[in-house]
Amino acid sequence: MYKYPVAQPEIDKEELKNIVEAVKSGWVSSKGKFIEEFENAFAEYVGVKYGIATSNGTASLHLALVALNIGEGDEVIVPDLTFAATINAVIYVGAKPVIVDINPDYWCIDSNKLEKAITPATKAIIPVHLYGHPCDMDVIMEIASKYNLYVIEDAAEAHGAEYKGRKVGSFGHISCFSFYGNKIITTGEGGMCLTNDKELVEKIKILRNHGMDPKRRYWHNVVGFNYRMTNLQAALGLAQLSKIEKFIERKRKIAKIYLEELSSLQGITLHPEMPWAKCVYWLYSILIDDEKIKMRRDEVAEKLEENSIETRNFFYPLHEMPVYRKYASFTYPISSKISKQGLNLPSSVKLSEEDIKYIATKIREIVIR
Ligand SMILES: Cc1ncc(COP(=O)(O)O)c(C=O)c1O
Repeated sequence: MYKYPVAQPEIDKEELKNIVEAVKSGWVSSKGKFIEEFENAFAEYVGVKYGIATSNGTASLHLALVALNIGEGDEVIVPDLTFAATINAVIYVGAKPVIVDINPDYWCIDSNKLEKAITPATKAIIPVHLYGHPCDMDVIMEIASKYNLYVIEDAAEAHGAEYKGRKVGSFGHISCFSFYGNKIITTGEGGMCLTNDKELVEKIKILRNHGMDPKRRYWHNVVGFNYRMTNLQAALGLAQLSKIEKFIERKRKIAKIYLEELSSLQGITLHPEMPWAKCVYWLYSILIDDEKIKMRRDEVAEKLEENSIETRNFFYPLHEMPVYRKYASFTYPISSKISKQGLNLPSSVKLSEEDIKYIATKIREIVIR
């Protein structure tokens, strides 16, 4: 246990009240009033018509791909720097992932490199709003429309983030969220697909429930999954959703303090926020240039750990892992560099301003020496 964790859920009396109500109602599995309430409220929050709650973010991505009939012979574009669930879902459906490098300025998929990755087999793009920063959605949507591609937004790390004033998760044909315990709002484990397309809603709901015909119990027209969210999870999620703006405000306040305290440090690049973006800083992150500060990123992390300050290294670039190497069609200089330099800092909404100032002071001490 760290005194200063990277992320930590804030669960209080409102959540407990809802969970107790759900337990007392007897609806503890995937039927019950909280599921639809949570689906509707979250969809409305993001600005999309329909929400389909799922068992986790990975299941949401998998459902989205199956619902769009993406499978063998198809290609799906993914960024090189993301949590592996993004590419895994593409592999589950038998499609070929095509890995694209990230943009050095905001760490998400480089929209300038997308067109080079498109072939006649390309069916979809999965932009990932990494660490709370939105992707360049205008360019992505324009390219998708030009080549007739689906866009599945992976918004697992970016609840409430905005691109030009519009929330992420409202751009793609389907968007996918995660409510894992370290996310901006949590249901323990959990996820959601959002879409404006009623036909996709029906498809995803059937696929989520074993592929069972909604009008004919135990009759299956398609091979589905058990990817349902429970009423207990939705009860927790609904209470969390009522506080989402407070959580985001705190994340942004944390970012502001890190910015004020660390911006003068040579060799440290701070978490970006492009002029067109509202970043929610899911995990506030920095890049450490080991040549400039004469210390490796991992050494900085070790020294912080000695002070009970938790950090996480950035994700490994997908193309560097043997299991995904065969999907590398290009070079990936930016993600390779950023992955080696990147460090997620404590971003828990439970940390006080003094805590963040203390962490920043320790970083300064370690880096300046
Ligand atoms: C970018 C991204 N996509 C997908 C997922 C998968 O979500 P889950 O853990 O809920 O399956 C995560 C995180 O966990 C993620 O960070």
